[in-house]
Amino acid sequence: MLRRLYHEQPSHFEFTPANLAWAKGQISKYPEGRQASAVIPLLWRAQEQEGWLSRPAIEHIADMLGMAHIRALEVATFYFMFQLQPVGSVAHIQICGTTSCMICGSGELIAVCKEKIAPAPHALSADGKFSWEEVECLGSCANAPMAQIGKDYYEDLTAARLAEIIDELAAGRVPQPGPQNGRYACEPATGLTSLKDHEKGRMAYNASVAAAVALQDTVKRIDGTEVLLITPWLGKAPAKAPEEAAPKESTAPATQSAAQSAAQKPKALSGARGGQADDLKKIKGVGPKLEALLHSLGVYHFDQIAGWTPEELAWIDDNLTGFNGRASRDEWQAQAKTLAAGGETEFSARVDKGDVY
Ligand code: FES
Repeated sequence: MLRRLYHEQPSHFEFTPANLAWAKGQISKYPEGRQASAVIPLLWRAQEQEGWLSRPAIEHIADMLGMAHIRALEVATFYFMFQLQPVGSVAHIQICGTTSCMICGSGELIAVCKEKIAPAPHALSADGKFSWEEVECLGSCANAPMAQIGKDYYEDLTAARLAEIIDELAAGRVPQPGPQNGRYACEPATGLTSLKDHEKGRMAYNASVAAAVALQDTVKRIDGTEVLLITPWLGKAPAKAPEEAAPKESTAPATQSAAQSAAQKPKALSGARGGQADDLKKIKGVGPKLEALLHSLGVYHFDQIAGWTPEELAWIDDNLTGFNGRASRDEWQAQAKTLAAGGETEFSARVDKGDVY
């Protein structure tokens, strides 16, 4: 299939402030001169932001990474996961048309898409909510025929069930993903002979469906807030301590103005509570220099780090002068949560044993 840029292009592209902060964190993972390695994650986040990849978006990312435009265009046009034309605002439906699914009825599913969405693939429905395409095997052949909608798979489909799913999505509901014919996972039609715990009602869904139901993010686009779905404790403010002072001015220069970024300075302490700071060097990625820098930003305790919101994490990443992006890259918050709760990490255990210098 020939993959071309869409005939109508927007005049420009910008990341949202939150996505820009995230993108800078991604770029910081790579050594000087290797920033081009971040091209796929940045293209993907641009697609999550806009729904599809426009030429200005691809070229903007190439400029961010110091790449020739043609190199980023090559990547974006090579991978089918990148959408080069606008997609439905609610969902882009990908019907598997490869052998197992074709034999089991993908043609009927495509007929539903043609009737309910648009006669041609990659065209928007009249209300702009849906688009569809046929894709190659999605690796769920034992549950054929199937479709990927948003981040999840809908398996063991029939034409009637797919039509219902589209109607439910149009009405603002997210149907339960996974097998649609009562199967638990991909067990044989004759039933299981072992691993039958779920038949006793102990597990309502298989693990994939359970996660999809819990997170409710099937058709949600990635924008950074999904971190709170997976690690909800990150969104909670730390318990207010009596010594907690009003925020003091940072001694580190800000790299972005408030107008440029949704990044938000976390509450700072004027000093360690009780005069005793936590040993922040127990967090993998924090050495003496970063510990001193954190102190200068009013950060002395694990629970402060564990409680940063995504906006506060973005601010910290931006203001770790010389170490920008490290807090995200080295996943300080997950470690800090364990340490704040009195636990230990594999790294902190090594620090305690004196194995880390
Ligand atoms: S053939 Fe459809 S998922 Fe493999």
